[in-house]
Amino acid sequence: MEPLQDISPVSVRVLTPADAEAYRSVRLRALHEKPPAFGSLPETEPDLSKTAARLAESNDRFFGAFQSAQLIGIIRLPRHSAPNEKHRAYLAGLYVLPRFRRHGCGRALVREALSWAVKTPGIRRINLTVVTQQEAAIGLYQSLGFHTYGTEQETFSRDGQFYDEYLMTLELNSANLEPAS
Ligand SMILES: CC(C)(COP(=O)(O)OP(=O)(O)OC[C@H]1O[C@@H](n2cnc3c(N)ncnc32)[C@H](O)[C@@H]1OP(=O)(O)O)[C@@H](O)C(=O)NCCC(=O)NCCS
Repeated sequence: MEPLQDISPVSVRVLTPADAEAYRSVRLRALHEKPPAFGSLPETEPDLSKTAARLAESNDRFFGAFQSAQLIGIIRLPRHSAPNEKHRAYLAGLYVLPRFRRHGCGRALVREALSWAVKTPGIRRINLTVVTQQEAAIGLYQSLGFHTYGTEQETFSRDGQFYDEYLMTLELNSANLEPAS
């Protein structure tokens, strides 16, 4: 395991197409994580130009955590677009580079995404799925008010092993969310 670094301060902001290369690099690192935190395969990750296009989409908000100029953590909050579904958004792709963990970066990313959702008219529920072995992420989500409402079994396999995912949800109206500082 890589040593912890002294990383304060960390800033979190919305990512733009100019961040595509850094985002893609961190994302590919996330998809190689062991044990796996994501079902997506590195070989199906969009190329650089498609990544830049995704970062420009208004319904798919990406956030990044930076130490100085280095991108060290990412999260995404796609919102459903159909008129009868756009009260829901989906928290996805949370990842912090291993050597920067346990310094509050993951919490800052989730809080920033939730703060954005709270300020966006019409969003009232955030859903997510998380691999059942990812105890750090589960603990983080629980501490912010998410609760588990089910388990999806064998959502993906990696190296011959099958992985289950918890389904978690947060009703924004009932959440005690201060805007991220
Ligand atoms: C989950 C993850 C983003 C947390 O990032 P982080 O920067 O270390 O998180 P923070 O330092 O902000 O910690 C926030 C909370 O997460 C939980 N947590 C973090 N690391 C933990 C660990 N090793 N064990 C148990 N709980 C942990 C704790 O509740 C912690 O709160 P606390 O510091 O008050 O105890 C990081 O571990 C990661 O990238 N994991 C792999 C990817 C992943 O599982 N993504 C989730 C996809 S749904």
